[in-house]
Amino acid sequence: MAGTSQVVLRPKTTDEVSAILKYCNERKIAVVPQGGNTGLVGGSVPVFDEVVISTQLMNNIISLDDLSGVLVCQAGCVLATLEDHVSAYNLTMPYDLGAKGSCHIGGNIATNAGGLRLLRYGSLHGSVLGLEVVLANGEVLDCLSTLRKDNTGYDLKHLFIGSEGTLGVVTGVSILCPQKPNSVNVAFLGCDSFSRVLDTFKQSKQQLAEILSAFELIDAASMLTVKENLNLSSPIEDYPFYVLIETSGSDGNHDKEKLDRFLEHLMETGIVENGTVATEPTKIQNIWGLRERLAEALMHDGYNYKYDVSLPLSKFYGLVEAMRERAGAATIRVIGYGHVGDGNLHLNLTTSEYRQDVMDLIEPYIYDWVSGCHGSISAEHGLGFKKKDFIYHSKSKSAVSLMKKMKHLMDPNGILNPYKMLPSD
Ligand code: FAD
Ligand code: MLT
Ligand code: ZN
Repeated sequence: MAGTSQVVLRPKTTDEVSAILKYCNERKIAVVPQGGNTGLVGGSVPVFDEVVISTQLMNNIISLDDLSGVLVCQAGCVLATLEDHVSAYNLTMPYDLGAKGSCHIGGNIATNAGGLRLLRYGSLHGSVLGLEVVLANGEVLDCLSTLRKDNTGYDLKHLFIGSEGTLGVVTGVSILCPQKPNSVNVAFLGCDSFSRVLDTFKQSKQQLAEILSAFELIDAASMLTVKENLNLSSPIEDYPFYVLIETSGSDGNHDKEKLDRFLEHLMETGIVENGTVATEPTKIQNIWGLRERLAEALMHDGYNYKYDVSLPLSKFYGLVEAMRERAGAATIRVIGYGHVGDGNLHLNLTTSEYRQDVMDLIEPYIYDWVSGCHGSISAEHGLGFKKKDFIYHSKSKSAVSLMKKMKHLMDPNGILNPYKMLPSD
């Protein structure tokens, strides 16, 4: 999504952010907080003439306690840089995204990013210990706790996690980093049907249990996308569905033994048709590339209609089938992939350029379908500019009404990322 703005400010310190917001608030000048600009719903894009406040230069790592695992840093640190830093102390970041090379931790918090290992480490609401946030009037809210336990009053940091820059600008972050696993294995498996994928998930929870760190889906149409558009190749022959399972643990022999037993069981019972296991980093990276590079691969088609929904697992793939039947003939492809382990489907359609007739086939049909299953129309990407008017498909009138009251209380002049997240009504 392209935006327009005449001013981009790149503060280095919290005090500078505070001065900018104080100035803008007094003059009712709208601002857009911007991190790595990798968001997928237009949240960081200026719609009219908003001033962009970029965290690009706020990239200092402040401290790392390698015993407790608590990292404190500025909001503009790039996720991959943080991963490299903590990894030298045998720690890992508690989340991982395909956009890690560009996205900022402040942007991750503002979107409550989920990603590839939420199944293992939980959401940022659990890992983030504290935040420093500059409010609309320039006041600095210091909630930068480094404690794991602190039940003193309302836990205000949670308000800002997933608030998409509408309640304050995150400037500092304290986050808990788990131990870096000593042994990582990846299995890439082929299944004949989606119900076999679900059988595999059930077995993986039972048999891999505490070492399971990711369970991702790629359907055949997705595999074709990375083959055709990025020239990648699959390590196994063609199947209707592929599952990527990652295990992470502390004892290589134990993990490998468990994984071998699990795979033997899947093959013997016919749940899985074929598969391969990777233990060396390059092979692991190549397999992960098939999944992580799907967003990039889709862009090569031209225009990408992107959907990111939560659904009960029994309905998960039904939406892809319904959409393929409805819009398949009008598009280049309709593909489904995502974080099965978290009930999060990424459904994508492409055409060579934007077409309103295709959009009319997709929306609001897709949101009605998801709402009919009591799912969420935005599992992890947020509502931003593109999806804000569909909020009622996932949230009650009373919930949205309270959100608006909170927004008004914290930003009475409406300068913080207007036109985003909340509906225009
Ligand atoms: P931006 O895009 O710059 O901003 C996103 C939103 O946060 C905007 O509303 C912006 O105003 C606000 N914001 C940014 N910084 C601040 C701040 N300091 N204070 C307050 N508000 C702020 N998302 C997932 O959840 N899971 C995935 O697996 C995933 N994979 C991705 C893979 C690719 C290849 C790409 C391109 C994107 C992916 N995303 C994923 C989406 C995106 O990367 C995430 O939403 C990410 O968290 C955005 O971070 P950012 O720094 O780029 O934020
Ligand atoms: C992913 O899981 O790959 C991301 O959320 C991006 C996408 O939806 O394409
Ligand atoms: Zn995702």
